[in-house]
Amino acid sequence: MLSKKLQDALNRQINEEYYSSYLYTAMVAYMADLNLDGCAHWMKMQAEEEHQHALKIFDYMVERGARVELLEVKAPPKDWDSPLDAFKAALEHEKYMTKNINALADLAIEEKDHATNNLMQWYVTEQVEEEANVDDIVKKMEMIGGTGHGLFMIDRELKTRPAPAILTGGDGA
Ligand code: FEO
Repeated sequence: MLSKKLQDALNRQINEEYYSSYLYTAMVAYMADLNLDGCAHWMKMQAEEEHQHALKIFDYMVERGARVELLEVKAPPKDWDSPLDAFKAALEHEKYMTKNINALADLAIEEKDHATNNLMQWYVTEQVEEEANVDDIVKKMEMIGGTGHGLFMIDRELKTRPAPAILTGGDGA
């Protein structure tokens, strides 16, 4: 049985993952408005991945007999100064998410809940990848100045991002 403290924290993390999905969806709209189809596609795949992150915790909680509570999702920003600025905001957001995951892992250890800690370790690894992926795009955009032909090339590259594999819930696999 999950402790009340962990149950509440996991419900909050589901909300954070849904907000992430919402934020990336707002970035899809922003990129699409700039006719950056590749950037929009990348953001859409990211939004989908965040949805799956939410569902993975959701499924785990159900499996543990805990009650999932869906909290209100706040509205994300609508605009950014530039595509580079949007990706920088994405990187900052991922760093924030990493902090949340680390805090949840700490709490699971504190509560001596090994199963939840095991699940959180999956997210710890995932966050390393999430930050690295966005950081790579930010660095490339900074290199080309984030405009013109270079931006066109990056946009073309981002169009090739595959759809995220469907994650299985419950055991952190
Ligand atoms: Fe689910 Fe990008 O954090």
